[in-house]
Amino acid sequence: MDTGIAGKVAVVTGATRGIGAAMVRSLVAEGASVFGTGRSPESVETARAGLGDDRRNVVLAPADLNDPAAPERLVGLALETFGRIDFVINNAASFAYRSLAELTPADWQELAQQKLVAYSAIIDAARHQLVANRGAVVNVAGIAGCVPTGETPHVGAINAGILSTTRFYAALLAADGVRVNAVSPGDTDTDRRQDRLARLEATGLSRDGAERRLSSSIPLGRAVAPSEVAGVAVALCSVQFASVTGINVLVDGGRHVHYSVTQ
Ligand SMILES: NC(=O)c1ccc[n+]([C@@H]2O[C@H](COP(=O)([O-])OP(=O)(O)OC[C@H]3O[C@@H](n4cnc5c(N)ncnc54)[C@H](OP(=O)(O)O)[C@@H]3O)[C@@H](O)[C@H]2O)c1
Repeated sequence: MDTGIAGKVAVVTGATRGIGAAMVRSLVAEGASVFGTGRSPESVETARAGLGDDRRNVVLAPADLNDPAAPERLVGLALETFGRIDFVINNAASFAYRSLAELTPADWQELAQQKLVAYSAIIDAARHQLVANRGAVVNVAGIAGCVPTGETPHVGAINAGILSTTRFYAALLAADGVRVNAVSPGDTDTDRRQDRLARLEATGLSRDGAERRLSSSIPLGRAVAPSEVAGVAVALCSVQFASVTGINVLVDGGRHVHYSVTQ
C-alpha cells in the first residue's frame, strides 16, 4: 500500500526513547528522513549509537522543551539539515509520578510547558513548511485526556488540552491541506511503565503480581507496544488517511471501555 511517506521529512520530538524512538524506526522503514530530538546531549548520543543502519536517515539533536526558545530553534535546525519539513510528531514529555498530595504548581507548569505550549509552538514554527508541503501533524496525548486513570490530575487535564489544541489546528490549517490528528496511548511498555512496575514492587508485590495489577484494567490484557502507537501515528501521516483530520485515536488495548465492561 502506498503511504506517500517515502522521501518526506519528519520532525519527531522525544525521539531518544520509548514511543518516539519507535516512531523514528517506523518512519525510516517507510522511507522518510527524521529530525529527532531528546532532552539532553547524553541521551541523544546514546540513542544515536543505537540507531544502526537507520543512522543514514536520522539526525538527532538535543532540545529541552522546558526552554521556550527550543521549538523555533529545533524547527530551524531541522530545515537547515533536510531542507523541508512534511510531518511534525509532537511526542516529548517527561513524567514523574506524584500522588495528589505531592503534586505542586511547578509540576503542572512543567508538563503544560512541554505539552501545551511546546507542541503548539512547534506547529507554529513549522507552519510555513507544513503548508508548502501539505503536510501532517500528529500530537501524542494520552488516555488520561479522555478517561480518568490512576495518574494524577495534571496529566489528564493537559492531555485533554492537547486534544482541544489538535482540533483547533485541524480547523485552522485544513484549508491549506494540512492535517492535524492526535494519538492517545494507554499503558505502553516504555521506561514510564517500568517505573510504575518498580513502584508496585516496592509495595511488596512480585514482578508478576505488579504486571497483573497493571494489566487488569486493560481489556486486551497486556500493555501496548511502542511500535503499535508508532504504527498509528505513521498511518495518520500517510496519504491513505488524506481525508482524516481533527481526530484522536486511542491505542490503549480497550482501556477506555474498561469501566463499561466491568461494572
Ligand atoms: N508510556 C505510556 O504509558 C504513555 C501513556 C500515555 C501517554 N504517553 C505519552 O506518550 C509520549 C511518549 O511517552 P514515552 O512513554 O515514550 O516517554 P519516555 O519513554 O519517558 O520518553 C520521553 C521522551 O521525551 C523526551 N523528553 C522528556 N522531557 C523532555 C523535555 N523537557 N524536553 C525535550 N524532550 C523531553 C525524552 O528525552 P530524554 O531521553 O533525553 O529524556 C524522551 O525522548 C508522551 O507524550 C507521553 O505523555 C505515554
